[in-house]
Amino acid sequence: SGGNSESRGALVVLEGLDRSGKTSQSSRLLSYLEGLGHSAELWRFPDRSTDVGQMISSYLSNKSQLDDHMIHLLFSANRWEKRSLMETKLKTGTTLIVDRYSYSGVAFSSAKGLGVEWCKAPEVGLLSPDLILYLDIQPEKATERGGYGGERYEQLEFQKKVSQCYQVLHDASWKIVDACQPMKDIEKQLQELVLECVMTCQKGKPPANLWS
Ligand code: TYD
Repeated sequence: SGGNSESRGALVVLEGLDRSGKTSQSSRLLSYLEGLGHSAELWRFPDRSTDVGQMISSYLSNKSQLDDHMIHLLFSANRWEKRSLMETKLKTGTTLIVDRYSYSGVAFSSAKGLGVEWCKAPEVGLLSPDLILYLDIQPEKATERGGYGGERYEQLEFQKKVSQCYQVLHDASWKIVDACQPMKDIEKQLQELVLECVMTCQKGKPPANLWS
């Protein structure tokens, strides 16, 4: 559906460990917003469709080896290459539901031992989300869910470190949602939070840049 040029779209980010349910919840959110007649799109990072995204994908499936700093910068570049399109969409009234963003970038790389400040630096100037939804699950519970695709980071010990890094990263503005509730309950909570955010952005809340 076409965007409304008088009001901007909201930038909504979903974060969480692998198997926290982000992907299914983000597509449910998209249907929900579309059902209400809002212009909305589902995005995800890494965006594997670009050249940079292909390099990331090959790294994640262990087909290539890269220095930890290098892969961090590629993940960031993959967001930068989408920044202007993202801005255009938001300005023209389309809400973006984004499955992973800069917080994954910082949490996963700092879990490897890179400094948090170093990790944040290349993200400065990207668009700042209007809403950050964290699907909270214990690493052990996520592992029990199975269905890890066998990618590089999908291992319990590493996910435990990522979980700790997310704890350090989040602030009071994040909405923490218990990812172990029945799916319907999670869906309902996310819908309320997102709708409120979409309405606030329509009323003219100005967009911001990271990290603010
Ligand atoms: P994703 O494509 O969401 O995982 P899946 O293939 O399971 O749906 O993300 C792939 C992995 O990349 C995931 O383990 C998180 C990690 N990641 C980073 O390390 N840095 C980043 O900036 C992003 C966006 C993801």
